[in-house]
Amino acid sequence: MGTEVVVEGLTKSFGKQNVWQDVSLTLPAGEVSVMLGPSGTGKTVFLKSIIGLLKPERGRVLIDGVDMVNSPERDIYETRKLFGLMFQDGALFGSMSLFDNIAFPLREHTRKKESEIRRIVMERMEMVGLVGAEGKLPGEISGGMRKRAGLARALVLDPQIILCDEPDSGLDPVRTAYLSQLLIDLNAQIDATMLIVTHNLDIAATVPDNMGMLFRRNLVTFGPREVLLTSDEPVVAQFLSGRREGPIGMSEEKDAATLAREQRTPAPYAPRTLAPQLEPSPGLPSRAAVPRRRERVLALLPGLPEPARAAILRSYAPAGPPAGTVGGPVGGPVGGPVNGAVGGAAS
Ligand SMILES: Nc1ncnc2c1ncn2[C@@H]1O[C@H](COP(=O)(O)OP(=O)(O)O)[C@@H](O)[C@H]1O
Ligand SMILES: [Mg+2]
Repeated sequence: MGTEVVVEGLTKSFGKQNVWQDVSLTLPAGEVSVMLGPSGTGKTVFLKSIIGLLKPERGRVLIDGVDMVNSPERDIYETRKLFGLMFQDGALFGSMSLFDNIAFPLREHTRKKESEIRRIVMERMEMVGLVGAEGKLPGEISGGMRKRAGLARALVLDPQIILCDEPDSGLDPVRTAYLSQLLIDLNAQIDATMLIVTHNLDIAATVPDNMGMLFRRNLVTFGPREVLLTSDEPVVAQFLSGRREGPIGMSEEKDAATLAREQRTPAPYAPRTLAPQLEPSPGLPSRAAVPRRRERVLALLPGLPEPARAAILRSYAPAGPPAGTVGGPVGGPVGGPVNGAVGGAAS
């Protein structure tokens, strides 16, 4: 099972510039979480702080008893081995084949035999749908394939925690949909704790168990996906609906005069209906985090805003027999309707 990540009171500045302050959240073990936020709000800085590559001035990041901010560098180095990282640009070596790129962490950090390395690399390439592309150079394949190669490389050391920095950047909507399914399928197969930084609204709406948002140097909120998805907080609503009207401006934050002008002529926010969370592709195991998450979230219910509470209860209501189904509900899949997810890996 993945490892829980506890972030407490984290504050990070570069010189006089404060990136964010007093960020606290817990990534529940084995669950998938998404961090949203406009460009420049410090999402990448947050990921680097979690793995101890950047040092916040205040706060702690606790993983298995090790504080990635303040523990001795040796302990931080060891704990970093629990992570799989997928960088924004894929970060592949241009002169190496995909096979060698994906094998790189194994050759660098383990003493495994070449035959064992081959077995692991091929298994991971199969997981992300890259079988047959082993010999290709990164420059010879599509952006979507490069993303998946980056993901395969993040998986070779059997990570318990996976951090993905904008895995969708540069992908078209169809490839992004495949990527979303791949992320859920991976979670079902390895039960790792996952944090995905993105501003893609489709990923945000369909992939995570939990969601947070960074804005104006603060964590706006972090919690079950339904809390953010039903929030009427202006910055959240604007972000999730992709509108110009609201506190987020072209240069990230609007000045007070522009905001005041907009507020005199408020544009109606479209009500948002929640898309169902993706399910693993047919044939894969169910996600081990789902029952854990259900128990955890049901215990949180009394403290949640009403719209979030209602959405959670709806999502956990026993699915009635869909109209017109043959055979009835007995013996059907547990946990409600399965999406018509396409298995395999196109693109
Ligand atoms: N190593 C660094 N030194 C100084 N400033 C940095 C460094 N890394 C990031 N920043 C600044 O921190 C802010 C947040 O950056 P970043 O985390 O990359 O934002 P995001 O990933 O949300 O787009 C930016 O203003 C950026 O210029
Ligand atoms: Mg970034």
